[in-house]
Amino acid sequence: MNNGDFLRDMLAKADREGYAVPSFNYSCAWDFLAIIEAAEEEKAPVMVASHALVFNMITPEINAAMGAAAMAKANIPLIHHLDHSDEVAICNKAIDLGYPSVMIDASALSLEDNISAVKEVVEHAKSNKVCVEAEIGKIKGRGYEGGYGGDDFLAQVDDAVRLVEDTGVDTLAVGIGTAHGFYEGKPEIHFDRLEEINAAVDVPLVLHGGSGIPEADIRQAIKGGINKINVGTIIHCTLMNSFRKDLIELGDNQFTLDIARPAMDEVKKVVKGWIRKCMADGKA
Ligand code: 13P
Repeated sequence: MNNGDFLRDMLAKADREGYAVPSFNYSCAWDFLAIIEAAEEEKAPVMVASHALVFNMITPEINAAMGAAAMAKANIPLIHHLDHSDEVAICNKAIDLGYPSVMIDASALSLEDNISAVKEVVEHAKSNKVCVEAEIGKIKGRGYEGGYGGDDFLAQVDDAVRLVEDTGVDTLAVGIGTAHGFYEGKPEIHFDRLEEINAAVDVPLVLHGGSGIPEADIRQAIKGGINKINVGTIIHCTLMNSFRKDLIELGDNQFTLDIARPAMDEVKKVVKGWIRKCMADGKA
């Protein structure tokens, strides 16, 4: 059964074997399905995730049912995840609806308030064996999955240790210079800080802001202790740009399915590229 323990095992295997589990953000049925098709063809363990905004818009019940059906049907290790919820209540709703994995992102709050929000979610998640991800430091940039424009983004080692020890959280997203949305210029990733945090805490670390990070940096991040890598913007944009291209070429009044299949195929190419960058191909 694909519960939190199943994900814990997936991440431990990735750590032992030196790859990362990619987590792809979807925003509709078409990219959701394309991600899973691509992962099955690559024989890769993956996560499909949606931001809390998508979770609320599709509705929690429909999201949860879609995820549960996909996990039951998949021929690969597949985990459905709630990404970036800044509200405890939304995480708890997802847990109650059977999500195996949720993220409580209270990184905008003080360390004390971050810890108390994470504690609340971990407490609720325990009896359902749900995996909980928290965030320390801040993910820069601006994208569908969130944004931060200040300079105070870098995760502090002592804060990471306190957050993990005080809450018992399962995985930790670290602010080390990566950004949501597309990068302007080359990402400046603080690999030294990543290694310090990895040496100080005993939980899998998560890299956010995947879209646009060069392959060499992805490989270095995995070496430095990253076990899960989140990719969103390039998925949404590939889907929408394919729709736009086909509508311009074919004209108005197209049937959705005729342009959805080519858009899914474009998304699949991107997903497969990311699975290989994470070295997760063939690891199912
Ligand atoms: P990108 O949208 O920059 O790929 O980041 C995705 C992400 O980190 C989701 O949490």
